[in-house]
Amino acid sequence: MTDRYAVIGNPIAHSRSPAIHAQFARQTGQDISYERLLAPLDGFVATVDAFRAAGGRGLNVTVPFKLQAFDYALRRSPRAQAAGAVNTLAFDADGVFGDNTDGVGMVRDISGRLGVALAGCRVLLVGAGGAARGVLLPLLEAGAASVLIANRTAAKAHHLAGVADDSRVRGCGFDALEHERGAGSFELLVNATSAGLDDAAPPIPDACYRGARLAYDMVYGARPTPFMLRASELGCARVSDGLGMLVEQAAESFRLWRGVRPATAPVLQRMREEIAGA
Ligand code: ATR
Repeated sequence: MTDRYAVIGNPIAHSRSPAIHAQFARQTGQDISYERLLAPLDGFVATVDAFRAAGGRGLNVTVPFKLQAFDYALRRSPRAQAAGAVNTLAFDADGVFGDNTDGVGMVRDISGRLGVALAGCRVLLVGAGGAARGVLLPLLEAGAASVLIANRTAAKAHHLAGVADDSRVRGCGFDALEHERGAGSFELLVNATSAGLDDAAPPIPDACYRGARLAYDMVYGARPTPFMLRASELGCARVSDGLGMLVEQAAESFRLWRGVRPATAPVLQRMREEIAGA
């Protein structure tokens, strides 16, 4: 029998997850269906309950429901616990399991496809919201030497650094970044702010970009983001948007549900072509 999965969110019409999971299923020969599920803003729990009652096996969760998905899960992975958010739900005989594959998806994209070793890496993480929190533990587990969290609202960066409870992590406002950076340069810059494709690059000092091996933006689009353009201008060796992270987090969810890990490179290439043509 075909097992049912879906991505739940509001809005959901533009989600690329169904296309990604359809390719994974074809590639691995798994008999699954994967649809879009629009939940009313006040109806997350009812929509998930109904999906489960109809035999649904698992969900990806996107904006704005990742915190509610966290509460919905009876058991959670340590990385979901650290992220404070859940992007993957699995329903089985033991009940509801919640995971968060976003951070590990980014780490895999950076260390695999982009070839930047995270062990010993000095990281500048720009932003201190949910997206930044989600990648923090995976970056540390991958062996980052240090992570400096810089945010427009300094207090949120300090708070997130405190929650991490790891001597490698510090937080500051943009204005203190130059000072906090010290003498060394960052090897990896990650933009985890929600500033969109039409906004300016985050106001971090030019010196922070210099010498970086990679500037990684967690958002993606048909064209390079302002952060990527700025990084290229200032001599970062490589820049990337977050499309690879999207495909990698999906692969990790697929592995959790189905026990097989699909190949991501051909799927990423296809998604890139689709986005360029859209
Ligand atoms: P997400 O889940 O996408 O991380 P969030 O939790 O609302 O969303 O966090 C948004 C992040 O983007 C925050 O770090 C926010 O900075 P503040 O904490 O100062 O609000 C950051 N952000 C949003 N718009 C920004 C902009 N135009 N310039 C700089 N930072 C911005």
